[in-house]
Amino acid sequence: MNELILRKPEETYQSAEKQAKVYFQDLIKQYEEKTYIKQLTSDFQIWKKDHVLGPVGAFFSKIEIPQQKQHRQYIKWLIKTERLEQYLYRSVSYIFMRDLGKTLDDKKTQKRIKEIVENLKEDLHTEVNHSGKKSEQLDQTFDWARIYRDAKKEDTELATIWLIEKLQKVARAIPDGMDREEAKRKLIKIVGGVVMQEREEMPVGISKEEQSKRLTRAIKLGYAYGITYPYIDDLLDSKILSEAEQNRFSHLIRTTLITGTAPELGVWTGENKKFIEEVYTELRKAFELIKQNQRSETKQKFYEQAYIFFHSQEVDRKKTLDNSNYTNEDLFIPIILKSSSSRLIVRTILSAPEDPGFDNRTFYYGIYNQLADDFTDLFKDLENGAVTPFTYYYKYYKKRTDLINPFELYWTVIAYLIHNVYSSNGDVREVILNRAVNSLKRLKSRLGDDNYEKVMNIFAVNDASFNELIQIMVNKATDVDFYDKLLRDRMITILKNEEQARKNFSETVKTVRTKINKNLLIQNEHNLPNESIIDAANYSLEGDGKRLRPIMTWVMGVKEYGLNESEIFPLLKSLEYMHTASLIFDDLPTQDNAKTRRGRPTLHETYNTAIAELTGLYMTQKAVEEQTKLTKFDERVVLNLIQYSSQIIQKMCIGQAMDLTAKGKRLNLEELNRMCLYKTGIGFEASLVMPAILARVEDKEIELLKQFAKYAGIAFQIKDDLLDVEGYQSLLGKPMGLDKENDSSTFVTVLGKENAKKAMWEHYCLAYDALQKLQLNTPFLKQLLNYFVLRNY
Ligand code: IPE
Ligand code: IPE
Ligand code: MG
Ligand code: MG
Ligand code: MG
Repeated sequence: MNELILRKPEETYQSAEKQAKVYFQDLIKQYEEKTYIKQLTSDFQIWKKDHVLGPVGAFFSKIEIPQQKQHRQYIKWLIKTERLEQYLYRSVSYIFMRDLGKTLDDKKTQKRIKEIVENLKEDLHTEVNHSGKKSEQLDQTFDWARIYRDAKKEDTELATIWLIEKLQKVARAIPDGMDREEAKRKLIKIVGGVVMQEREEMPVGISKEEQSKRLTRAIKLGYAYGITYPYIDDLLDSKILSEAEQNRFSHLIRTTLITGTAPELGVWTGENKKFIEEVYTELRKAFELIKQNQRSETKQKFYEQAYIFFHSQEVDRKKTLDNSNYTNEDLFIPIILKSSSSRLIVRTILSAPEDPGFDNRTFYYGIYNQLADDFTDLFKDLENGAVTPFTYYYKYYKKRTDLINPFELYWTVIAYLIHNVYSSNGDVREVILNRAVNSLKRLKSRLGDDNYEKVMNIFAVNDASFNELIQIMVNKATDVDFYDKLLRDRMITILKNEEQARKNFSETVKTVRTKINKNLLIQNEHNLPNESIIDAANYSLEGDGKRLRPIMTWVMGVKEYGLNESEIFPLLKSLEYMHTASLIFDDLPTQDNAKTRRGRPTLHETYNTAIAELTGLYMTQKAVEEQTKLTKFDERVVLNLIQYSSQIIQKMCIGQAMDLTAKGKRLNLEELNRMCLYKTGIGFEASLVMPAILARVEDKEIELLKQFAKYAGIAFQIKDDLLDVEGYQSLLGKPMGLDKENDSSTFVTVLGKENAKKAMWEHYCLAYDALQKLQLNTPFLKQLLNYFVLRNY
């Protein structure tokens, strides 16, 4: 059965090695003869004219340059000083060379670069012009709404939703000990790269439908490839698996790549069982996806590159810093191979047609980036004991005078690229030298001047005047920044902030939930004779509810409006009583007829229907009584609040009635929206508006809160409808599949899963807009909104 795709994997690798050795020999020759120094010295003389100002110019230009980190100010500055165009030009050109394997002397490429620069320019102008209105807080985390809306323009929203869910899943799966944000960043970057590649492959004049189909495919394939970075490479690099586990896992991957079929995982024991199962299942799915999308012409090449990529990493990984006997080839050949195959593979995954120019340039280019990265990661790699040309040289340069200095080889590669690969093209020289100087500037600012100098002394090129030239360029050159670096830095910041915000959110939810749970149960304060109703009410309250509504009230009341916690506590209880009552009614045999709720039998199952009905009624009244305990507030305000609250309950009854009369019918979109607003959105509205009433905020703000609650609430209900068909029973605590069983009219039963997801994200976007207008101090509602649509239960 298992047809071997790579009959002789060793030979595939050896033949790649052979090619890499030829390239390496070429480099060594130039390295030893120092031809690269002569070439680059004259290249820098030309380059310098546009990048190194005289002392007066340098003085003035230094004063006002904002850091790339403050990206808005930086872009504004670029615009003001008319640098934006050049900046984008070099950035886009660089990406076209590195990721798309293009040359810059090609007319078509030049035209595309120009188009992209124009588009980016426009986007950036709009972005900085709107910056005043946008709240900084939202700006520092993921703008899913914008991502979704951009995707909509190209009809790729379903693939984008798919990707968002995948990212979520990966982030949840990754254990401590592996870098969660880094995994997400790489995934996003790789998907971006694959989509870019596909975009450039698309013929002009292609129909919108075809375009959306191809981009959708590219997003999915991008993920399928991207997931191998955290789930294969980073996993094997991490210390999570034991050696035996590592070998077993590697073997599975190797077998997959050689046979073209992913074997069964088999029984995995020990503490990594769950994680490995998840990882391997996902990898298998990814592999299947790639396989299904493979065209027969590119199939063989895909397997070859995949094997070379995987094997070269393995070879690299097995090296240890203690071994003092590695040859230069041992050190450099695998990195030539891994860095080139990682990019060559992209076109084979997309089954893009053969392009020898791409293959050729990409093969030579890879090591340039790899050496730049390895230099940047020197200290991190040393800490991890990882062997790279830089760590190895750092450790052995005194003992092993035969070792090639990787920093010198780096410059050799640069000269080789400019002159041998890109035939001394002026644009290429400009872009690559910019990049090289920029990397060193970044390194210097990260290491600090002293450490940078120490490092430079070790790696200094064996030619004093060239060394000096490099350092002068690093110190004095201007206009060498790159947009992709800005995006990278921003992405890291955003991912970090997002993770922090998410942690803070769940921390808040946890603490407030505990507070509420402690004081939620109903006491028999009036000494009522028969306690069974109170017991029944408490039975429902003791269930494992999320307490979202009172938590929202707590955050808005205490954190946003500065109200006193103990003074508003009756309101928190009141809200949870109203909500729990609504669930008791909803579960009744006359309504949804549910057997479980909050992880235990429903109230009417445990007691009986009559008691359940009475308990629901009892609790709505108990809710009003609690509101009358808001004694620290002005009576008129409380009266106002009670009036509002009664109207809320009325609306909820109307919503629930709409729901029940819709059984067996198919509501239209407008009716669905109205029903969800009434049965669900309104409850969330109350949680936000009631503390606002107590805090006496302006009507305008209350209006916006209502808007937010409406859209977020509908999104919440759509997610609830989705969970009914695709959730996990063990997490939900209530029956699944009930909507279908009851023939209810929900977003999912009416629109289908995919369109329901779209509708959910549409509402997400609308809620996000309201949030932007609100300009609140606490980031809570943004996280809450994310949670509403990304939650598992
Ligand atoms: C369930 O609400 C009813 C809906 C509006 C879908 P929750 O999902 O907040 O339920 P609990 O309070 O956590 O049980
Ligand atoms: C609940 O809608 C609406 C209420 C506010 C009671 P559902 O009927 O979908 O809620 P679950 O799924 O039973 O929690
Ligand atoms: Mg219902
Ligand atoms: Mg129900
Ligand atoms: Mg439901």
